[in-house]
Amino acid sequence: MSGHMRLRLCYNSGMCSQKRKNDQELFRSFRVMLAPMAGFTDSSFRAVCRSFGADATVSEMISAKALRLGDRRSRQLMYFTEAERPFGIQLFGADPEDIAFGASYAEKNFSPDFIDINMGCPAPKITGSGAGSKLMTDSVLSGEIVAAAVSSVSVPVSCKIRAGYHETNADSFSAVLEKNGASCIYVHGRTRDRMYSPPVDLDIIRRVREAVSVPVIGNGDITSVEDALRMFRETKCGGVMVGRGSLGEPFLFSRIKAALDGLPEPEYPSLEEKLEVLMRQAEASVNEKGESLAMREMRKQAVYYFRGVNGAASLRAACVRIEKLSDLADLCGKALDAGMSSGNAPG
Ligand SMILES: Cc1cc2nc3c(=O)[nH]c(=O)nc-3n(C[C@H](O)[C@H](O)[C@H](O)COP(=O)(O)O)c2cc1C
Repeated sequence: MSGHMRLRLCYNSGMCSQKRKNDQELFRSFRVMLAPMAGFTDSSFRAVCRSFGADATVSEMISAKALRLGDRRSRQLMYFTEAERPFGIQLFGADPEDIAFGASYAEKNFSPDFIDINMGCPAPKITGSGAGSKLMTDSVLSGEIVAAAVSSVSVPVSCKIRAGYHETNADSFSAVLEKNGASCIYVHGRTRDRMYSPPVDLDIIRRVREAVSVPVIGNGDITSVEDALRMFRETKCGGVMVGRGSLGEPFLFSRIKAALDGLPEPEYPSLEEKLEVLMRQAEASVNEKGESLAMREMRKQAVYYFRGVNGAASLRAACVRIEKLSDLADLCGKALDAGMSSGNAPG
């Protein structure tokens, strides 16, 4: 009997119920997470978000097939530091064997705290191969993918899904994922057809919460403390996941955490503090990727940090010309010399 089959039997017979409980426990401690965002949530940004209270972080999505073919860039995307733990490596793919390979490779070589499977990406490049949100149209294959991942690693496996593909089916779909061993489900409350258009459907997140007993983490359009509290209130989710709202605003995590703990809202950082965080992120990125690549990637991150800053339109425009760490430091210096202020907390 293959390893996959043995573990599936074990899950179905309840033999591993203690392991399942332990696996789920990890996700129950995640109240506010950073969402994975390809091109943005690299190691340097994840570490910054953790330092402001994000309870867990996830890698950008990584192709299990490319990994199996020995792609170097896919391996590089798995890089993380201890500061980012609890940390999950997210894989995408439509072939259970690719996913089994990728999950096992990730665990052996990088030791993440969990493996996540992307079942929500709407990009045609991904759905065209049957992966990402397209999996939500095939619950049998999706169940096999989860089972393949679960039986290949000792760490827990989570799934990130949408409300559905064309139709909203996240509740029945999640029950299949749970049955096949998923220990946590993150739900972005929009169908693939709706891409990113508001509003986010909180009702389907609540229905997923009712359909499964594993932890459910709600996602979509959280840009303020009030948005996060509403997500908790209306969906009864165990945790929330913040994506775009955290760009240039890692401070949002500490404000949400304070509200959840009944503590006073932390003061919004001064411009100097904000830009110190930006520079810290940029330096970590340079250490990881080298100055040329890191600073090209930091351009769009810097635009977000300057977003709320009063009078910074010219600085935002100048971000496209950043080549070196010293260029970014000069821009920050200009903002401070001009006496600009950090503005107010968004939301
Ligand atoms: C630029 C960008 C890249 C993204 N990359 C990923 C990804 O790699 N994996 C994933 O599961 N979701 C990805 N997402 C989706 C986000 O994780 C999240 O589900 C979505 O943005 C909704 O949350 P938000 O409204 O808080 O941003 C991405 C979203 C954006 C905007």
